[in-house]
Amino acid sequence: MSGARKVHIKSFGCQMNVYDSHRMADTLASEGFIETATPDDADLVILNTCHIREKAAEKIYSELGRIRVMKQEAARDGRHLMIAVAGCVAQAEGGEILRRAPAVDLVVGPQSYHRLPDLLARVARGEAVIDTEFPVEDKFDHLKAPSREATRARGVSAFVTVQEGCDKFCTFCVVPYTRGAEVSRPVAKIVAEVERLADAGVREVSLIGQNVNAFHGEGPDGRAWTLGRLLHRIAEVPGIARLRYTTSHPCDVEDSLIAAHRGLDALMPYLHLPVQSGSDRILDAMNRRHTRVDYLDVIARIRNAQPAIAFSSDFIVGFPGETEDDFRATLSLVDEVGFAGAFSFKYSPRPGTPAADMAGQLSEDVKTERLHQLQALLDTHQKAFNAGCVGQSFDVLFEKAARHPGQIVGRSPYLQPVHVMAPPSIIGTVCRVTVTEASANSLFGELDAAPMQHGEPMMAEAGG
Ligand code: 5AD
Ligand code: SF4
Repeated sequence: MSGARKVHIKSFGCQMNVYDSHRMADTLASEGFIETATPDDADLVILNTCHIREKAAEKIYSELGRIRVMKQEAARDGRHLMIAVAGCVAQAEGGEILRRAPAVDLVVGPQSYHRLPDLLARVARGEAVIDTEFPVEDKFDHLKAPSREATRARGVSAFVTVQEGCDKFCTFCVVPYTRGAEVSRPVAKIVAEVERLADAGVREVSLIGQNVNAFHGEGPDGRAWTLGRLLHRIAEVPGIARLRYTTSHPCDVEDSLIAAHRGLDALMPYLHLPVQSGSDRILDAMNRRHTRVDYLDVIARIRNAQPAIAFSSDFIVGFPGETEDDFRATLSLVDEVGFAGAFSFKYSPRPGTPAADMAGQLSEDVKTERLHQLQALLDTHQKAFNAGCVGQSFDVLFEKAARHPGQIVGRSPYLQPVHVMAPPSIIGTVCRVTVTEASANSLFGELDAAPMQHGEPMMAEAGG
């Protein structure tokens, strides 16, 4: 397809940005754009940005510096390179981006992606365009679905946004401002999307939302459905072998979700449940709306329903006013729960959030020291969890050829990469594997039985 315009989309931050980038690519495909893996030959570069922490936003400005040079070089060759900034930095900074990086042509917030074709048409007429509105129309009704080929190229595991935005207003977090109020998609539309994905070979679906377990989308019966009910419905879609969901808030873990963990085989026994801190004082200052005991109680209830479950979490160290005692409470909570994995961050003041103006901001040194301590502890738990997998048998969904010749890599129920020596025909299938070796981040194993030729294998090179 010579002559087709090319778009390069670079995603930063969370899984929702990955999903949004795909949907932008799908929408632009119907405008004649094809995706390119590098910005070098692109006519349009979109940076899909993240604003959750300081470094994430600063990265965008340095990236924009590099792309500006590419734009100048393209202009020397008589080509016009359009630059768009999407995502949460676009939403939060708006016109400031055009002032700091005048090479940018378009600033588009997360709720306006369905307007991209129109916005780009305005850019082509020479306008610098900013669209950071929260439009009344539902973008999901207007964004285009992926082609079968695009879905297959993206692999056997797919994200589906079921909920967006957040009403929790944790005092450190920009999400309620950049993604807006909580909105759930209707069940029928989610099911239709999952059916299309399954039809193109997807075997695992991760339902995503900033506060996914607050899901309350309208069901076919006209009532608000819970996430637990939605999971049961999606498990009925032929071809879908595995379900996950992320990210959850401890306060919204309700009974139907716990029931899903008890009874729904397709639901993987791995839950990302951010706690942020183990200190009640800090949890209160963060406006997390739950105590340490509430969190431990939720963990106990889910473990009771599904003893095989493992947990991961997010932590913030150095929140304003955090004392040594508060920090030690976080360390002791880590020991008490024993997380299989975790993300941990130094508190970063986000403009416009309440915590940014709180007294008791801590020095960078204190934050760094606490982060190191916490990460060392989390690492020992992760290593212990991985080591405990040796000798166990798991179902593994095989995703792609590994870097090592002859090896195929998939994911365990606990999201650990699992490497086996096997033919590429197992890609796209779930096979039983006995784990023989564990490293800090991944597992190695052997197939329990010779691979069966069921299912349609996906492309071996998907994702490289
Ligand atoms: N500073 C540091 N970490 C943050 N997170 C969100 N906001 C901030 C902030 N201002 C972390 C939280 C959240 C994860 C996605 O990012 O741990 O769960
Ligand atoms: Fe941010 Fe999550 Fe708190 Fe919502 S619940 S404000 S997304 S940290």
